[in-house]
Amino acid sequence: MVSYLSENVSKITTHVLHKMKANQEKIAMLTAYDYSTAKLLDMAGIDVILVGDSASNVMAGYKTTLPITLNEMIYHGVSVVRAVERAFVVVDMPFGTYQGNSKEALNSAIRIMKETGADAVKLEGGKEIIESVDRILSAGIPVMGHLGLMPQSIHKFGTYSVRATDREESNQLIDDAKLLEKAGVFSIVLEKIPATLGKKVAESVSIPIIGIGAGNGVDGQVLVLHDMLGIVQDFSPRFLRRYNNLGEEIITSVQNYIKDVKTLDFPNDKEQY
Ligand code: KIV
Repeated sequence: MVSYLSENVSKITTHVLHKMKANQEKIAMLTAYDYSTAKLLDMAGIDVILVGDSASNVMAGYKTTLPITLNEMIYHGVSVVRAVERAFVVVDMPFGTYQGNSKEALNSAIRIMKETGADAVKLEGGKEIIESVDRILSAGIPVMGHLGLMPQSIHKFGTYSVRATDREESNQLIDDAKLLEKAGVFSIVLEKIPATLGKKVAESVSIPIIGIGAGNGVDGQVLVLHDMLGIVQDFSPRFLRRYNNLGEEIITSVQNYIKDVKTLDFPNDKEQY
């Protein structure tokens, strides 16, 4: 059994994540939005938990990530942080809380850090949000970037298809990654871009690059837990590997429960007072 540097630390920090990249140990990251799930991920030994604004889709059933509010993200964040001892916890800054106004960005980030106890915040964008990134960093708050497919910009993109397939957009993405690194972000998520570009970005910067649909040349991977466990069943992009079909298992368990209630099988003598 291979042993990893990260197994010997009691708490994952930005420093540990940087050492993992330097030692070529891949970083494993998953989403969680609630206490019970976060506890299981932490017990399993996940390195980073992302309280993603994908909660807007997965938890609240919205079509995009845009509607989720700062208060709702703080609710999810604090629930996750209460469960976690070892993993590094990042909370997504929701749409409308950091774009175009760096003072508001700082206030939003401070609220997240103070009210959730998370380890860092994540923002989508490159040079267009650099003022907000700088201001948040100036308060000593660790920032994770997010480039490539940025779901908060879906109305600008008009499609969820692969980003940065042409030279102009891929050069812009590399410039943005370097700009974010120079500003001081500790890591960047790259979503749905060609694998060759993911590798190139990871090799061009010294901070960890975490991919979702960005190939295996990056420094770590992230998936939405509900997708990889098959709880969400109607989303199957090429980059998604399903590790379970919990959706089916939940439906079968609930059907068994309904049958047991209706047939008076549940509760039995041992299951009552
Ligand atoms: O909100 C989210 O879950 C994310 C991941 C897809 C990286 O940003």
